[in-house]
Parts: sequence; structure tokens; C-alpha cells
Amino acid sequence: MKGQLVNIFRFKLFIYTMLALPGLYMFYPILSHNPIFLADPAKYLLEYFGKTATLLFIFVLSLSPMRVIMPNFKIIASISRYRRMFGVSVFVYIVFHLIFYLIYEGIFSQIVENLKTPFILSGVFAFFILFILASTSTDWAVKQIGYSRWKCIHRLAYLAALLIFYHQALQEKNGIVQTIYFFAPLAILEFLRVGKYVLKKSFNKY
Ligand code: HEM
Repeated sequence: MKGQLVNIFRFKLFIYTMLALPGLYMFYPILSHNPIFLADPAKYLLEYFGKTATLLFIFVLSLSPMRVIMPNFKIIASISRYRRMFGVSVFVYIVFHLIFYLIYEGIFSQIVENLKTPFILSGVFAFFILFILASTSTDWAVKQIGYSRWKCIHRLAYLAALLIFYHQALQEKNGIVQTIYFFAPLAILEFLRVGKYVLKKSFNKY
């Protein structure tokens, strides 16, 4: 029993460290005097945190289909227990994305003007959904809302994924190609999950 508790604690510590690492990595380009970072630090960190949050978000969404496709893979079940913590980390990283955006843009009137563009608007809507998901991620919130309503609210994550896909695809540099690379694994996993469900249903019929 004691050994089991130590293992759980170690695993939790491992997960916390993993989630903090992308945040700490931010100091690497500063310390290594990365010329791309030095040319425009706010832009560099804005893009870095956008990508970090998106990859982490895609990973969280991938856990459910992975559990269905590989039910005997224990590590996925163990990681899934910390799914809400992953979700909160996504929100923390996206807050950094927003902060560096505000620093990068700098001028208030320009920030307001940008709100009219579909690119920024999709980001803002996705941000609000992530805020709702993160703020309802505590055990207390689940109890207050009720599990089935909470589950309904958390389906908004799929709407956020669509908005983030659109937001990332519209950005100037790598746009659609990078976005497809990011989202392809999730799309494949969801496809396999549906495939497994359909196969199971049709076998049960006969
Ligand atoms: C709060 C509202 C948001 C604003 C104002 C915003 C703004 C921006 C800006 C200005 C860029 C850089 C565009 C460029 O370099 O062409 C960007 C890129 C990006 N954003 Fe957002 N964003 C927001 C929300 C989000 C959210 C919620 C996500 C995902 C969780 C996200 C993910 C990304 C990604 C992946 C990139 C591309 C980074 C790259 O590859 O360079 N953003 N965003």
C-alpha cells in the first residue's frame, strides 16, 4: 500500500514536471541568445506559447480515443486521471500567449481594431471556451454543476478545437500545412474510435 502511494506521488510529480517544462523552456532562447528570439522576443514567445498550448490541447483531446482504441494500455489510463490538470495547463499557456500578444501589439486602438478580423476573433472565442473549461475543472465545480451537465459543458472542447484549427491555419507563416501536421494525429485517432464503435455495433447485430 505504502509502495503504491509512493508510486502515485512520484507519477504525479512526474506529470507536474512535464507540464511545467514547456514554460521553463521559454528561458532557453534567452540564455542561448537565440538570434530569432532577440530580433523580436514578444513575437517569438507569442508564437511559442500558441504552439505549446495547441499541442498540449491536442494531446488532451487524444486521450479519450486512445483509451477506447487501446483499453489495455495502462499508461494511457494513468495519464487520463490527470486530464483536468492538463486542461488547466493549456489555459495557463494560452494566457501567456495572450500576454505576449498584448505586448507585441502594444497599441490599444490596434488591439481593438484587430478584434474585427476572423483570425483574432476565432482565437478570442477559443480563449473563452478554454477559460470556461479550466474554471470548471475542480472537483468542487463538478459537484456544483452535476456530472452530466459538466460533461455537456466540456464537449465545448471540440468547438474550441475547430476554432483553434481555423485560428492557426489563418496565421501568416506556416498556416495550413503546420496546422494539418498538428491536428492529423487527433483526426486519425477519432476516425479509429468511430471505426471501432461501428464495427462493434455491427458485430453485436449478428
Ligand atoms: C486570446 C485570443 C488570441 C489572440 C489575440 C491570439 C493572437 C495570435 C497572434 C497575433 C498570432 C501570430 C500570428 C502570426 O504570426 O501570423 C497567433 C498565432 C497562433 N495562435 Fe493565437 N491568439 C489567441 C488565442 C489562441 C488560442 C486559444 C490558441 C490555441 C489554444 C492559439 C494558438 C495559436 C497558434 C498555434 C498560433 C501559431 C503559432 C506559430 O506557429 O507561429 N491562439 N495568435
